[in-house]
Amino acid sequence: MSDTPAKPGDYTIRQTTDLPLCYCFNVKEQAVVAAIQTKKLKTVREVQTATSAGCGCGCCQPDIQTLLEQSAKGEPMGIKVPVIEARDAKPPMEIPPPKI
Ligand code: FES
Repeated sequence: MSDTPAKPGDYTIRQTTDLPLCYCFNVKEQAVVAAIQTKKLKTVREVQTATSAGCGCGCCQPDIQTLLEQSAKGEPMGIKVPVIEARDAKPPMEIPPPKI
């Protein structure tokens, strides 16, 4: 963890997982990364055609775009996730015992 406190909007890159990137079509992150790398895809449209990811609600298209940009720059590919400092977490709320 960095000594600098996280600010709203800070993010880190998470390694790709076997979790879905596109929930509409249940396309996993690793499948999208593999398609981008093996088929040398350059646009969201090409990823849509190759994997169906991004063809539904469109919520995953920014993540697909991020992966495409990382691939184009030769950077490690992963999903952006917000940085949340543990110290920012609130303690669990105390629930009073029931009145009997
Ligand atoms: S989550 Fe990918 S199109 Fe809806």
